[in-house]
Amino acid sequence: MAIAPIFKKAYWSLAIVGGLYFVYMTLLLNGWVQRQALYAHNVHTAWWQGPNKPEQFGFLKNQVRPFTIITPDGEKLYAWHTLPLSTYIKNEDALVQESTSSREDPESSLAFKLLAKDPESRLIINFHGNAGTVAQGWRTDTYRALTSGLVDKLHVVAVDYRGFGYSTGSPDEKGLIIDGIATVKWALNVAKIPPEKIVLLGQSLGTAVATAVAEHFVVKEGLEFRGVVLVAGFSDLPTLLTTYAIGGVIPILSPLRPYPRLQQFFAKNIQETWFSATRLVNLVRKSKNINLRIIHAQNDFEILWTHSNTLFSAAANATSTGDQGLTQEQIDELKIHQDLGESGFTNSWITVQEDGGRKSIKQDVVRHGGHNRLVTYPVVAKAIANIFQ
Ligand SMILES: *[C@@H]1O[C@H](CO)[C@@H](O)[C@H](O)[C@H]1NC(C)=O
Repeated sequence: MAIAPIFKKAYWSLAIVGGLYFVYMTLLLNGWVQRQALYAHNVHTAWWQGPNKPEQFGFLKNQVRPFTIITPDGEKLYAWHTLPLSTYIKNEDALVQESTSSREDPESSLAFKLLAKDPESRLIINFHGNAGTVAQGWRTDTYRALTSGLVDKLHVVAVDYRGFGYSTGSPDEKGLIIDGIATVKWALNVAKIPPEKIVLLGQSLGTAVATAVAEHFVVKEGLEFRGVVLVAGFSDLPTLLTTYAIGGVIPILSPLRPYPRLQQFFAKNIQETWFSATRLVNLVRKSKNINLRIIHAQNDFEILWTHSNTLFSAAANATSTGDQGLTQEQIDELKIHQDLGESGFTNSWITVQEDGGRKSIKQDVVRHGGHNRLVTYPVVAKAIANIFQ
């Protein structure tokens, strides 16, 4: 008899949680709410630790130069250019003496000249994940890891998409792709870095941007980059949201798993789809040469590492010139698998096409690195070094 009120309590708390989830899902059907949840661009710490003083994040004086990229539709994107440490050391006196107020005219800055005037410069264009700014969390460690001597004269440019940090506008799929293209065009046309010296690096949401941008350049402009590196990526947003949890904690569609029709209904109403696997297939097909790296950690609780299997298989399949493509069994049989114990494993797929082109696709799955930190780990640095070798 005394147990009954406890059951009653449990029943009510369940009903309240269920009710709240229902309200939350109904809200998520609204496009604006969806974009706030997916991009989380208003979640950042620039209020009290702004990216305009990169020294706050451990960089040397003028090692990082903030600058602006204007998109064709008039948005002003805030970007960071990080100098290679060895280049910094060679030019230390001049860099230290340079006034930070010369930001008004970034192309007159020494940092820009060191990038643009050296024919040996190489460049990583970094597309970050959702939330935060170029200076958020592990992102600054990424720039440090990549500019500390990994590859000679390797610069990093990172950009805040529209609506993020100090960039103007508000984000959506089309806009973020415009931003990515504008950033690459800045590198090609303003800094004059040839595409064979550029690697596109994306993390999480940034993998979808990097893929869409690389696809755009190969399809629309016939340009191929040195490499594309996708860290903690996903196949497409509706699929991702059936397992995704914001920050690894707040689920979106996964509680609906017992109700597939309801789950499908919500998945269909997702306006931002980011069909990355489809774009990746197109990118691999249309490229003559491609160097693609797909990297994921098994302890990533935001985006399950199995997404990297989907991306790898889609990319491998896209190298096939037959009408039928390949089956999953054929891909599993033909790929080169290497077990690395506590480090995880790799799968490689290298084809030489009839036209002499070479398509190299590699999947690195590590056991450790989580969702956000992985991009700072040696597995990513090594992939980039291999690409430039
Ligand atoms: C490979 O691509 C073909 C289309 O070209 C498709 O029919 C097939 O299902 C794909 N295989 C896998 C494993 O996705």
